Amino acid sequence: MTDPAANRTNPKEAAPALPPLPRLLAGQKALVTGANSGIGKAVALALAEAGADVGVNYVVNPEQAEEVATAARAFGGAARIYQADVSNEAQVAAMFESFVIDFGALDILVANAGLQRDASIARMTLDDWNKVLSVNLTGQFLCARAAIAQFRKQGDSRRVSRARGKIIDMSSVHQMIPWAGHVNYAASKGGVMMMMQSLAQECAPDRIRINSIAPGAIRTPINHDAWATQEAYDKLMALIPYGRIGEPEDIGKVAAWLASDYCDYIVGATLFVDGGMTLYPGFADNG
Ligand code: BGC
Repeated sequence: MTDPAANRTNPKEAAPALPPLPRLLAGQKALVTGANSGIGKAVALALAEAGADVGVNYVVNPEQAEEVATAARAFGGAARIYQADVSNEAQVAAMFESFVIDFGALDILVANAGLQRDASIARMTLDDWNKVLSVNLTGQFLCARAAIAQFRKQGDSRRVSRARGKIIDMSSVHQMIPWAGHVNYAASKGGVMMMMQSLAQECAPDRIRINSIAPGAIRTPINHDAWATQEAYDKLMALIPYGRIGEPEDIGKVAAWLASDYCDYIVGATLFVDGGMTLYPGFADNG
């Protein structure tokens, strides 16, 4: 057997960069929510690398969003920033309206914006519950609804992709793995799974492709405490058979591929990108 430690990164060292993307999305217009940091940022950059023009949604921190847009433009396309709280119906409507005025069309939505407010059930407030459900689940609903309306309006007028439009919902391994102390988050992602599948079923006849990516542990600010020290990192590795934490780019590059015509027949699927976390490694020598 090979040494599982050979694949490991450590808390300070990112895995080597993945190979560059071909221009899979040339001429397409993509909006990514929560794109000023973490996974959303990596998705926006990967879509830009693949040739798309990108909208970088954010709530606070316009400077961060502007930095992402600048980095996206370095791949040769256009990029603009859009402030909107995805859980606010009016702000979402205004964002999609501005995006279509600026770019002329919408081909891809990556509904990524999400957050955690962790607490044991004894300590979890209604506000913690509502906040997570409203951003992670209602936010994806509002953005999907707006995107689908735009895709239908465009009909066959676009010639950039086989599908009339594509949506990628950012889910989590916790759409399937229960998570004590995170009941709001796990419930929101379980909801994302059923929302995605039901919308995919409803919209596939319009040639709108809706799928999810379910990341495992990815090195971002949301789970900083799970990887920032050697002790935490080693504990985390017990959950990841592949022996390393994911990098945001691991998700970004998959999103670009999933939005491309290589995946034209993928409809209503959840792609787990988790180093094997959902293989329940605790059973490898147990049970
Ligand atoms: C959560 C992270 C967590 C990962 C694996 C993600 O959805 O946001 O905090 O590290 O799942 O448990």
